[in-house]
Amino acid sequence: MGYPPPMDQNALKKQVGEAALKYVRDGMMLGVGTGSTVNFFIEALAASRIQLKGAVSSSEASSQRLRAAKIEVLELNDATTCDVYIDGADEVDRGLRMIKGGGAALTREKIVAAASRQFVCIADGSKLVDVLGKFPLPVEVIPMARSYVAREIVTLTGGQPEYRIGVKTDNGNVILDVHGLSITDPVKLETDLNQITGVVTNGIFARRPADVLLLGTPDGVKTSK
Ligand code: 5RP
Repeated sequence: MGYPPPMDQNALKKQVGEAALKYVRDGMMLGVGTGSTVNFFIEALAASRIQLKGAVSSSEASSQRLRAAKIEVLELNDATTCDVYIDGADEVDRGLRMIKGGGAALTREKIVAAASRQFVCIADGSKLVDVLGKFPLPVEVIPMARSYVAREIVTLTGGQPEYRIGVKTDNGNVILDVHGLSITDPVKLETDLNQITGVVTNGIFARRPADVLLLGTPDGVKTSK
């Protein structure tokens, strides 16, 4: 009695979602990711007085939330680049490399991240790992190539791909989640997986890691660069 209860995961996500506002300024073109942590960020953005030039979104789900908050959503082709990209992660290591795609938005996330000057990753402390791979690695695949790609992934990685049944990406593709990986060279595996014909993108974000990590912990937000 008398002690505050330990912060749950959602409270930590909210904390970093709000902390990310520090990186957003009036007049910016903002890249916005996908997921529950980003939803807290959108909520904080909507409540702020920040006047953006506009936003580029990585999913239909985030676009809907942004529009509901009266934030103009532009196509990346019209926006050209984003000043800052704010997004969550399923895992992040100390080199700010990530696994993403738990929400199946990895391809658009990778595109918007690539077209952004600064990538700010927002995550609760449970996402920080020494080695990526405990979280099953999402791979977006052209539907007709699903079993071929799955066999190639087994040969390349020794991991076990699992078809994410009932999920179709915003691009009309399917997701294989690869279990049992320990990703000691994320840049190489990211590159190698992309060479399999039929793979659209994989969820390793190592070639373009985050520039800043805001990690939500019970002791406050920890920033790494
Ligand atoms: C969606 C993602 C998300 O950033 C990732 O799944 C983290 O989600 P959450 O913030 O809900 O924990 O990559 O494709």
